[in-house]
Amino acid sequence: MNEESTKKEQLERLEKKLLNFKKSPLYQYRVENGFLPVLGEGDFQAKIMFIGEAPGKKEAQTGKPFCGASGKMLDSLLESVKISRKNVYITNIVKDRPQDNRDPSKEEIELYSHFLDEQIEIIQPKIIATLGRFSMGYIMTHYGLEKEIEPISDAHGKSYETKFSYGKVKIIPLYHPAAAMYNGGLRETLKEDFKILKK
Ligand code: URA
Repeated sequence: MNEESTKKEQLERLEKKLLNFKKSPLYQYRVENGFLPVLGEGDFQAKIMFIGEAPGKKEAQTGKPFCGASGKMLDSLLESVKISRKNVYITNIVKDRPQDNRDPSKEEIELYSHFLDEQIEIIQPKIIATLGRFSMGYIMTHYGLEKEIEPISDAHGKSYETKFSYGKVKIIPLYHPAAAMYNGGLRETLKEDFKILKK
């Protein structure tokens, strides 16, 4: 069995667990609305993994991450640095849609985080780009960079190195693409910050 098919199988097993994640307070909301959980998608061999917050409505309807308005913004940022979406892996910390697009709670982030931890171990990205303060906070706190946490307005576009079980990883905090939809200035900042991924 080659490495790619093993990764695929591991991710499929994880997806089954997520489908049955009845202990989440968001499970009921998912079922009542006919929503899907969103594990993530992309290249299983990707060097770069993007981590957002939680699925929005469109994502919960399709089961795919970043396919709504924030996704369009993410696509255009990737395009601006000529990185193909096909070659990266995209996911979120929380895998079910929180009611009415509210921010995920601390408890929800902790509850779902083992899915993300497992995904990282399966994909083994060399670069993790966090999108927004929630995923930045989770990754930096849990992966040895707690003391270096700064507000996202200072941390964005910087590169922090840490170690995972499989080797060194660069953590790059970025603003959430949705922030650029409400603040045109941030779009330029995000475009500038995305250039670091190309390097
Ligand atoms: N916002 C996120 O953080 N993730 C998505 O998948 C969509 C919107």
